[in-house]
Amino acid sequence: MNIIKKYNSDISNFKIRGRLLNYAAPVYDFFMQKIFFDINNKKILEQLNKLTIEEDFKILDVGCATGAILKKQIARLNKNSFAVGIDGAFNMIKIASKKNKICNLHFICADAAYLPFKNGYFDIIINTMFLHHLPIDCKIMALKEMKRVLKKGGIIFTVDIDKPTNFAVKIFLYLSALILFQKEIKENIDYGLIEIMKSAGITNNAILTQYCGSVSVIKSVAL
Ligand SMILES: C[S@@+](CC[C@H](N)C(=O)[O-])C[C@H]1O[C@@H](n2cnc3c(N)ncnc32)[C@H](O)[C@@H]1O
Repeated sequence: MNIIKKYNSDISNFKIRGRLLNYAAPVYDFFMQKIFFDINNKKILEQLNKLTIEEDFKILDVGCATGAILKKQIARLNKNSFAVGIDGAFNMIKIASKKNKICNLHFICADAAYLPFKNGYFDIIINTMFLHHLPIDCKIMALKEMKRVLKKGGIIFTVDIDKPTNFAVKIFLYLSALILFQKEIKENIDYGLIEIMKSAGITNNAILTQYCGSVSVIKSVAL
């Protein structure tokens, strides 16, 4: 983990692009995790729970916020495995690390567009409600980075806003993007997650389920 320490000490030199939720960190678990994102967490945990966990298993959560999902998974990992959560918001990582007493669970402040890990390192990568925080070029950069650090045969699970499945949700999301000044949401809707992934060279994708009229759970296997 030396490379991570070095990167962390240099973080002030980086201008991270994307909507960082530093300001929301103190209330994130209460409002977002418990009220709005509970359903997403259930969907991703459902997928993770189906996996057979091998010795020496490595899992990465990109845009982990306060690390709630990894904290729920860690009990399943043996002592030779480990989990890493990265987020560009330093305050999120501070909260994630403060509540963390587990030695094979790490949280680091990093930019998803420049992941501080070597090639082919992780077995599983998850990203939930994260891509709609990035402008389109960064979505692609972050996905390329996930592909780079994933092992052959490894899996990326993505949960995020996708092309709406009905008109009412489409209008609702366009209005939300407008009110929140968040064109990054509109980009998810306009391009669709599968097309964005293909632009990043991630081609082996399957939509596992869709809910709330636009959120997709996508499984991508590294060829
Ligand atoms: C809506 S939150 C989702 C967090 C978590 N995955 C969940 O489902 O609750 C999106 C997170 O992405 C982080 N983020 C935005 N841009 C980023 C970037 N370029 N690199 C790393 N994290 C970023 C934000 O700080 C925020 O914590």
